[in-house]
Amino acid sequence: MTIQNNTVFITGGGSGIGLALAQALIQAGNTVIICGRSAQKLEEAKQQNPALQTIVCDVANPHEVDELMRNHAALLESVNVLVNNAGVMNVYEIANTDATLERMESEVSTNLLAPIRLTKHFLPILQSKKEAAIINVTSGVAYLPMAAAPIYSATKAALHSLSLSLRHQLRDTTVRVFEVLPPLVDTAMPGALKGEGKSMKKVSPESVASEIVRGLQKNIEEMRIGDNALLYWANRFVPSIAAAQLNKM
Ligand SMILES: NC(=O)c1ccc[n+]([C@@H]2O[C@H](COP(=O)([O-])OP(=O)(O)OC[C@H]3O[C@@H](n4cnc5c(N)ncnc54)[C@H](OP(=O)(O)O)[C@@H]3O)[C@@H](O)[C@H]2O)c1
Repeated sequence: MTIQNNTVFITGGGSGIGLALAQALIQAGNTVIICGRSAQKLEEAKQQNPALQTIVCDVANPHEVDELMRNHAALLESVNVLVNNAGVMNVYEIANTDATLERMESEVSTNLLAPIRLTKHFLPILQSKKEAAIINVTSGVAYLPMAAAPIYSATKAALHSLSLSLRHQLRDTTVRVFEVLPPLVDTAMPGALKGEGKSMKKVSPESVASEIVRGLQKNIEEMRIGDNALLYWANRFVPSIAAAQLNKM
């Protein structure tokens, strides 16, 4: 797709992969709006990139998403690219007391229900545009679970499935559906990992952002970045080896 003159809305754009993508897209000549829960994080992002537009919104909260759409209707009407990037990952044993239902449900709300809600809200806006896209950020754990992060893995598998269905349903419209599967990235998120995951090599969020921009230019619908290309094939042909490798983390 054309990689300039778009208006892009990125959830969780105040840090990590979302912020790196926002920066790359601004540099490429797009208008970028980011949202997140922390006003301070968004303010810091704006200080670094004055062209960024920021909105405080907890996408896991359906009332806040309704308010977002209502209070910023004029601005959001111009959006032609939605990036469902915000995510949370908890590492726990489901049988243990730290795996409370509240924590588990909050992962489902952020990682799965929020993209569903935002897709539903934004679709009429996107469908009115000559060229539009939904970009869902999942993970290699969408292909096979990392047992240490059971709910996170389940939500990413579900978002992968949803991306496939949505792509099929929207095939005759102007809306393209992309999925981005980053490898282990040097952001706050892998901080939750224990064991080998802590010391494993991580790529920079900036390198992931440039892979996404390249993928969009080439219309790569499922962007398996870094080691995830290998993980995809390993899971098809030697699933037990792939699972053992992933579960070292
Ligand atoms: N890092 C990795 O190794 C890795 C690998 C594969 C996939 N991914 C995926 O990449 C995406 C970005 O993760 P990241 O690594 O960049 O992590 P990150 O630095 O922790 O960024 C996550 C962002 O999401 C925002 N966020 C979380 N919950 C939110 C909510 N309810 N509403 C609005 N914003 C929310 C956070 O901001 P606030 O706290 O201010 O809300 C934060 O800016 C996630 O979907 C993640 O699953 C990451």
